[in-house]
Amino acid sequence: MAADQPKKVRIFDITLRDGSQSKVATRIKLEDLLRVARKMADTGIYGAETWGGATFDVCVRYLREDPWERARKLKEAMPGVKSMMLIRGQNLVAYSNFADDVVYKFVHAAARNGIDVFRIFDALDDIRNHETVIKAIKETGKISEGAVCYTISPVHTIEKFVSKARELEDKGVDQVAIKDMAGLIDPATAFELVSSLKKAVKVPIHLHTHDNCGMGMMSALKAVEAGCDMIDSVLSPFAGGTGHPCTESLVFAFHQFGYETGCDLNKLTEAAAEAKSVRMAYKEFEAPYSGVDCRMLVTQIPGGVMSNLTSQLRDQNALDRLEEIIDEIPRVREDLGWIPLVTPTSQIVVAQATFNVMLGRYTIIANHTANLLKGMYGETPGPVNKELQRRVLKGEQPTTVRPAELIPPMWPELQKKFPNMTDEEILIHAIFPHEASGYFEAKKLNRAS
Ligand code: CO
Repeated sequence: MAADQPKKVRIFDITLRDGSQSKVATRIKLEDLLRVARKMADTGIYGAETWGGATFDVCVRYLREDPWERARKLKEAMPGVKSMMLIRGQNLVAYSNFADDVVYKFVHAAARNGIDVFRIFDALDDIRNHETVIKAIKETGKISEGAVCYTISPVHTIEKFVSKARELEDKGVDQVAIKDMAGLIDPATAFELVSSLKKAVKVPIHLHTHDNCGMGMMSALKAVEAGCDMIDSVLSPFAGGTGHPCTESLVFAFHQFGYETGCDLNKLTEAAAEAKSVRMAYKEFEAPYSGVDCRMLVTQIPGGVMSNLTSQLRDQNALDRLEEIIDEIPRVREDLGWIPLVTPTSQIVVAQATFNVMLGRYTIIANHTANLLKGMYGETPGPVNKELQRRVLKGEQPTTVRPAELIPPMWPELQKKFPNMTDEEILIHAIFPHEASGYFEAKKLNRAS
């Protein structure tokens, strides 16, 4: 089929955001990202992920770098390439819900600073948490991409994923992404899922996967065979393992199969050389192991979650409890309605599983766990454990409305509090209230010196 129907596949290179996040903890400074971006500009890639996810957090907290300037400069370096960001639904680039008015301000500011494509996801896949973001993007005229989180559980079926994609299309998104944040999707499922999506929705389909289990390239190819329109990949120095399928290899292999990406392999190779020298310069932030790790095929616990858990337990001298916690994680997931393991739910599940093992099952119910059970994050994919829910509700009713309905407007207050600041600066205060003062202090010192 592929050979007689040459088809265009759009490449989104995600080296500058997820690549950096997956391999060197998002620590790459703007000047070094720009070196790579300038080389990427005329490679023929359709899009580049440059912002969102952890970038805002790391810019403010560690790098003391203006996150807005980062978005702007990267767009300027690649004017012909669509700049994409990852936005955590109503959580924006943080870990809990914001009021709708802050969501509008944030999306407008991101668009103003150069973001063309917004990939929206919600950790619970509750599409109501996408709603306001989608409406705000519509106002800016930019592209909205609704993501369905790929995970494995007894309640996650092809039909379930497809119905989520349909819901997103009904809400008006311009494209749908399969967000396989843990690299769990296998080539057969990728083929089946994309085939089903292509039948069910009209908007283009975009695959995001990682290579943790070594299946990334196979899954990308099978997805394209099934009609996937867009693929995420990274330049070779960032590819594989905790990273993603490789841009150059995909471009080469797709061509052999009659799929055209419009990319220039020579130019990509030059960009890759630049990316390699940048990655080498950030060696100190590399995880001790970032290769393929197939344990996940058995444990279904993402590599990033495993490595955080391992280092936490090492710090607490409790590494001997690791196996018990690994066994406890699926039980907690089940109690919490089989939520996917992605920011912030992965942190919530791991923390509760650790409490359960160390102190006895649900001797302590962490605040975040309680809020999840109360429905404050939204509707979970499967039903939650009713007994636990009763315990935390203490006679009250669970939240069933769109969670942000319960958050009063925040912007007027913020404006009053920070009268001489731009929207962009106020948003830094709104999103990271604890880190903002240190950040602005450091910026002031920088300017003075
Ligand atoms: Co990812």
